[in-house]
Amino acid sequence: MRHGPQATPRASVARSTAPGELRLNARPTERGLLAAVRDDIAFLKGFLQHPDQVGSVIPSSGFLEQRLIRSAALAQARCVVELGPGTGGTTRAFLDAMRIDAHLLAIELSASFHARLTATIDDPRLVVQLGSAEQIAEFLAARRLPAPDAVISGIPFSTMPAAVGDRIAQAVAAVLAPAGRFVAYQVRAHVADYASPYLGSPRAQWEVLNIPPVRVFTWTKPA
Ligand SMILES: C[S@@+](CC[C@H](N)C(=O)[O-])C[C@H]1O[C@@H](n2cnc3c(N)ncnc32)[C@H](O)[C@@H]1O
Repeated sequence: MRHGPQATPRASVARSTAPGELRLNARPTERGLLAAVRDDIAFLKGFLQHPDQVGSVIPSSGFLEQRLIRSAALAQARCVVELGPGTGGTTRAFLDAMRIDAHLLAIELSASFHARLTATIDDPRLVVQLGSAEQIAEFLAARRLPAPDAVISGIPFSTMPAAVGDRIAQAVAAVLAPAGRFVAYQVRAHVADYASPYLGSPRAQWEVLNIPPVRVFTWTKPA
């Protein structure tokens, strides 16, 4: 179950907008407690099956989601890529914060998480892609999506082979739009070792209101 701030301000906006926008801005709490508990159980099962790939026993907190949204400047973004959406808590929060005409490409390596995301999130702005973050350029091109203004990553760089981490960082740096942001949240700092050669020094912050506390690294590609 998500822990952290609820999306009250967004909900009040949603209720004052056109009927068609209400669904796009649905609050996570409106999904119901049971759906949230099911997500948590599916996430834990995914972790127990592939601990190195999933990297965490529970989904990100609402506090972390809001920090990611601010760090990536999602309210202004036209095209966003999420690497490792898991059971979709972060994905829903990003959609809540994004423009109604924006696009979100979510790339997930786990077939069971991919199937769950496809079955549980119905939003015309979202494309869920099964595959590895290494293929980000190929997936953007296949969907005819523009260079992303933001790429947000929750994938565990600390447990993947170094060659894979390097290829993902290089691919993210190559596809980002000028002035685009790469935001990565991690307990450890491996992602900074991979991305800094391509994007320079990141801004680094801690989000302590998450289990476990994580670092949030933000790179901005030169304009
Ligand atoms: C820590 S979970 C993050 C889930 C969710 N975004 C959150 O913050 O609660 C990491 C996710 O990254 C996925 N993942 C790991 N390696 C990946 C890769 N190379 N490409 C895409 N997804 C990957 C895992 O399957 C898992 O769903």
